[in-house]
Amino acid sequence: MDLVQLVYFSHIPAGGAPVDIAGILRSARRHNARQHITGMLNFRDDFFLQLLEGERDAVNETYSRIIRDPRHWNVVLIGYQPAVQRIFPAWSMHWVADVGDIREVIMRYSASDHFRPDKMSFDCAIAFMQGFAAWGQRRSADAGAQLAAGM
Ligand SMILES: Cc1cc2nc3c(=O)[nH]c(=O)nc-3n(C[C@H](O)[C@H](O)[C@H](O)COP(=O)(O)O)c2cc1C
Repeated sequence: MDLVQLVYFSHIPAGGAPVDIAGILRSARRHNARQHITGMLNFRDDFFLQLLEGERDAVNETYSRIIRDPRHWNVVLIGYQPAVQRIFPAWSMHWVADVGDIREVIMRYSASDHFRPDKMSFDCAIAFMQGFAAWGQRRSADAGAQLAAGM
């Protein structure tokens, strides 16, 4: 399989309707599951940052559909690389709700506590997504432990 990873960032339209993340994720996951695309979507501080991974033709087709979507603009490709394995094999599009203080995660990959994917290299964007996904997992585990302990 000719596996590739593609990372881009984009902006939400100024003065537009509130971003319907649930709707975007629903349609992304439906299409991606069919095309065996996996990845992660992030939205914060007016930026989207997304990783698409999968077979080259499927990723190319999906990306060309995404860049025409009026729910964002100024789509900028950060990187496109062949890959040996997927980072999020279990996710047709991973999403971590940024409930709580994620400044700690952002500051590890940015020069400030603002989310600035426009300043990230491909490797930095990938590292951020892995760090953020791990943070989301720890948070879910903590919440589960608190529930189990009756806290
Ligand atoms: C930020 C953003 C990320 C998106 N990610 C995906 C994606 O991963 N896969 C996908 O098929 N569509 C994605 N979409 C949606 C496509 O742009 C397009 O609207 C959709 O595929 C159209 O299909 P539908 O009419 O069946 O919903 C995304 C849209 C936005 C705004």
